Formats: sequence, structure tokens, C-alpha cells
Amino acid sequence: MNLKIAVLPGDGIGPEVIRQAIKVINTIERKFNHKIEIREGIVGGLAIDKYGDPLPEETWRICEESDAILLGAVGGPKWDNLPGEKRPEKALLKLRAGFNLFANIRPITVFDELIFSSTLKEDFLKGVDFVIIRELTGGLYFGKPKETRFEDGEEVAIDTMIYRASEIRRIAHVAFKMAQKRKKKVTSVDKANILECSRLWRKIVEEVAKEYKDVVLEHMYVDNCSMQIVRNPKQFDVILTENTFGDILSDEAAIITGSIGMLPSASLGNSKKGLYEPIHGSAPDIEGQNIANPLATILSVSLMFRYSFDLEEEANIIEEAVRKVLKAGYFTRDLYTNNPYAKKLVTTEEMGDLICKVIEGGA
Ligand code: IPM
Ligand code: MG
Repeated sequence: MNLKIAVLPGDGIGPEVIRQAIKVINTIERKFNHKIEIREGIVGGLAIDKYGDPLPEETWRICEESDAILLGAVGGPKWDNLPGEKRPEKALLKLRAGFNLFANIRPITVFDELIFSSTLKEDFLKGVDFVIIRELTGGLYFGKPKETRFEDGEEVAIDTMIYRASEIRRIAHVAFKMAQKRKKKVTSVDKANILECSRLWRKIVEEVAKEYKDVVLEHMYVDNCSMQIVRNPKQFDVILTENTFGDILSDEAAIITGSIGMLPSASLGNSKKGLYEPIHGSAPDIEGQNIANPLATILSVSLMFRYSFDLEEEANIIEEAVRKVLKAGYFTRDLYTNNPYAKKLVTTEEMGDLICKVIEGGA
């Protein structure tokens, strides 16, 4: 296949983990005889420094002309005091909204060898396998008004949570379709005891559920869900939730997998063009030390092959390689400590090389 991928390394550990992902893409290209063109774009804090804009036009154009987008991370302390419109994170929001990527898919998969890297107890983790479907272009992130103003001599800040029925309906379909291919259960997470948005959410999700008779639907309040995720995560198959709740719950769920360095994500819309990124962010504290875990980004590449390119075999071989390397006991620093399965501590680069070697069939 001829494929074009826009690669946006971004800030912090972004460039380091992206470098490993590019190696993996190149390895897959060779092994399966694809023709993959990678075009890099500048994004986030770096782009602010260079062009005064977190998402310069040129970067947007590269993304527009590509079949899929791979992003490292954006943000860092250097840009933390800028106003909302000028922050590195704005680039991410613009990409999500601009390409209408309303469905964010965050798989929570537990690799057996990493169970001891989690702070949670072993018995509750073995066999956990669920997906968070997070609505990505609505709610508090985008609702207007969104501003800080003066009222009666003091500052007042306002964010707006707003959801249209159509926005809820389309993300609900994504969740039910996903559940049909899995364990056939959707847990819709809301705060319907308090929020109007959540009451509409619940009503629409129930309507959509009628079209998926083979899927069981349950509702859960978000506060309870945050407890259930660490109390008994095995109960979940597909968690369906709105933007802000999904942001928070997915960081929480990362702990189950042993490290936030393990969690990939895919953001999809109505077309095949998706945005793929690790959920961990720029981690400025470990930037440039060659210790970051590149697996979340490498697993995001796997999701890219699956969802944007319909290349299931390529996606599987990447996931299989991750499994094998972990089984062999090669761990980056985030996973290494207190884990009896850990045999060798590896750097970011070494982890990337190991994955490529396994994909090539050399180990
Ligand atoms: C995420 C991140 C982003 C979000 C930030 C970086 C804007 O936390 O993808 O979970 O809040 O959506
Ligand atoms: Mg987040």
C-alpha cells in the first residue's frame, strides 16, 4: 500500500518516543513491502517558540495531506503561563476539532509481566481488558462561553459543558459497535444525578442501545466509576463517556497497566484519517535522558495500522512484538522497579530496537 503519515514529535519526550515509532513504521514498511511516506511537522511549544503559533499552517497542511497523524506530546513548564489560546495544548484541540476526531479510543490492556509494576494488587489485574471510548470534540473542552472576566470587581472564570444529541448519538454508536466485537457490554459513565448534559447523554445512549440488542448497557455515575476502576476493573468491557470524564478516568485506568507509558490512543472521525498519540504527555522531568517508555507510542502505531489503514496483520505483529519483548524481561525504567519479571533495564532507544528486531523476525 502507498501510505502517507504526518508525524508531529512535539515537546518533552515526544521526539524520543516518536523516533522509536518511526523505526517501527520503517520496519513494517520493509517487511510488508508498503510504500510509506513520513512527513514531519512542528507542533506545540516548539512551534510557539519558532512561529508564535502552536499549530502553524504548514503543519496543518501536512496533516491534511496525510492518511493518518502520529503525535508525540505537547506542552511543558516553559509555556505554562500563556493564555489558553496560545498554549501548546491548543494545537491538539485544533487537530481534534479541525479533523472532527470525535471518538477517542483508549484500550486498557494488562500485560501479565507488568502486573507487578502496578501499585494495585495482582489478583485484581490479571485478565483486565477494557476500552475507554471518550467523546473528544465536545463538552467543557470546547463549549462557549469560555473566558475569564471581571464581575463586581473580581475575576470570574467560566467554562461551558454543552452536548448536542447528535454528538452523543455518534459516539454511542462507536461504543456499541466496539462492544459487539468484544465482550458485548457498554458501561455509560455520566453524572446524571446532577448534570443536564448527563441526563441527555443517558437518554440518547438508551435510544442507541435499542439498535444493539446483543449488547448489555449499564449506566454508572462517574464518581462511582472512578472507584470501580481500581476496586474491580475486570467488570468493564467498553466504557463510554464524555470528554472531561474520559480524560480523568483514562489516566486513572493507566495505573492498572503498570505505567502510563503503556497507553496508546486513537482519535477517529467519520473518515479513515485518525490521530494517534500516547496518552502520557510530554513528561518534561525525564526529557532527553533516553529513559522514557516508547511502548505507548509504538502501540499507537499499531492502532494506526488497524483503524486508518485496515492492516490488521501489521497491527497484530507490532502488538505481538511488544508482548514478546516484555515477556523476555526487557523493561524501561518506569516498569523496572519492584518487578520480579524484570531482567534487563533498557533505554528508550534500546526498547525501540528490540521491538524492530522482533518484528523483523530476528528474535
Ligand atoms: C489527553 C491529554 C490532553 C487532554 C491535553 C494534553 C490537552 O491530557 O489526551 O488526555 O486533556 O485531552
Ligand atoms: Mg489526559
